[in-house]
Amino acid sequence: MSIEIRKVGVIGAGQMGGGIAQVAAASGYDVALNDISEERINAGLATINGNLSRQVSKGHLTEEDREKILSRIAPAVTYEHFHDSDIVIEAAVENEEIKRKIFQALCPALKPSAIIGTNTSSISVTRLASTTDRPEQFIGIHFMNPVPVMQLVEVIRGIATSEESYQATRELVERLGKSITVAEDFPGFIVNRILLPMINEAIYTLYEGVGSVESIDTAMRLGANHPMGPLQLADFIGLDTCLSIMQVLYEGLADSKYRPCPLLVKYVEAGWLGRKTRRGFYDYR
Ligand code: CAA
Repeated sequence: MSIEIRKVGVIGAGQMGGGIAQVAAASGYDVALNDISEERINAGLATINGNLSRQVSKGHLTEEDREKILSRIAPAVTYEHFHDSDIVIEAAVENEEIKRKIFQALCPALKPSAIIGTNTSSISVTRLASTTDRPEQFIGIHFMNPVPVMQLVEVIRGIATSEESYQATRELVERLGKSITVAEDFPGFIVNRILLPMINEAIYTLYEGVGSVESIDTAMRLGANHPMGPLQLADFIGLDTCLSIMQVLYEGLADSKYRPCPLLVKYVEAGWLGRKTRRGFYDYR
């Protein structure tokens, strides 16, 4: 039996969840957007509004489009708002315990046919699925940051994910105008298995004094044609997220080549998490 997705729920109104909500609403879906407080939801909506207004000022959207897209996103202060969602995409922080608690509270609020998608960037989809009442309707749907701009969505099936859930997710991603890559359920999947060790190595390069922040980023921007240098990208992703992903790779693959750089650990301990705290490898204050 095929599953048709019309209503999309999103948990987390930060840079990933807000981006997913924006793209889904712009593609014509009704969206319910949740976070831990009304203030956070409103902050997410304000960011979406800012992104859309920038598109209007560049002539890529009309004012009417902006209003229509925003009107499709309803704030969901409790999970009860997801009662008619066909899929709920969890985009909370990259912390297994927090995600587990979210799924436990979320499941009773959902209709039986609803799919749960997780935007986890590295954690086992099979293990997260096992904490829900519907492992067959649980799937990894990993967006890239910034969501409105990046073309790729990585789709990851857990061991129990049904073909119907996979096909419905695939159709959703295509209707969002994104391209799919399918990854097996191993730590970090494809993108972060490759990208994060590169970023971690850039941090080791800094730690060992091989180059300054600027020289490392210039080397990779101009020498390898990356749109951002690896340290600038780390600040953009969030150093806490980078560290969480490295820890998942290190523990899950049990290989010292994934050891998080001590400098990355120290920055996170200092609360220097990159752009979002206005201090990371660069100073944004
Ligand atoms: N939200 C929405 N739109 C944004 C945006 C944001 N945060 N940042 C930039 N844009 C839009 C701009 O409005 C602009 O749109 P138009 O073309 O319609 O005018 C477009 O993106 C290009 O932006 P800019 O000209 O300002 O800047 P740029 O050319 O330097 O591009 C960038 C910015 C797209 C972020 C580019 O630097 C880039 O591709 N960086 C690498 C990003 C990347 O690697 N992301 C993956 C991270 S890994 C990940 O996400 C997985 C994970 O789990 C950690």
